[in-house]
Amino acid sequence: MIVCSCTEISDRDIESALLEILRAPDAPIPTPGLVYRHLAKRMNCCSCAPLAVETIYNKVDALEKKGLISPTLSATTRSKLLEFTSRRSSPRVLSRNSDSETQTSDDAVVRKIA
Ligand code: FES
Repeated sequence: MIVCSCTEISDRDIESALLEILRAPDAPIPTPGLVYRHLAKRMNCCSCAPLAVETIYNKVDALEKKGLISPTLSATTRSKLLEFTSRRSSPRVLSRNSDSETQTSDDAVVRKIA
């Protein structure tokens, strides 16, 4: 299934990226922006953001059920994602840091989910 028509990212692409991302030591939170960058892609219109988040959640569950990631890692990842999306959806002051690309695409995700 195609998740992002702009970049032609499929659910299988996301699953493969998640496997690589989550197996890394000190695995980062697999936000859509991080997953897309891992696939050497960049969000364009961001209309896929809600589906990308849903796909990431579902794929983390599926990877756990297949035994490809541990239940602990799966639970930790879901918790981090939930915390991340909650934190991002609360009102905040706009910052002007140098990580603007990451922040822009992930902020867009939260705006579309909210
Ligand atoms: S549909 Fe994914 S960036 Fe446009």
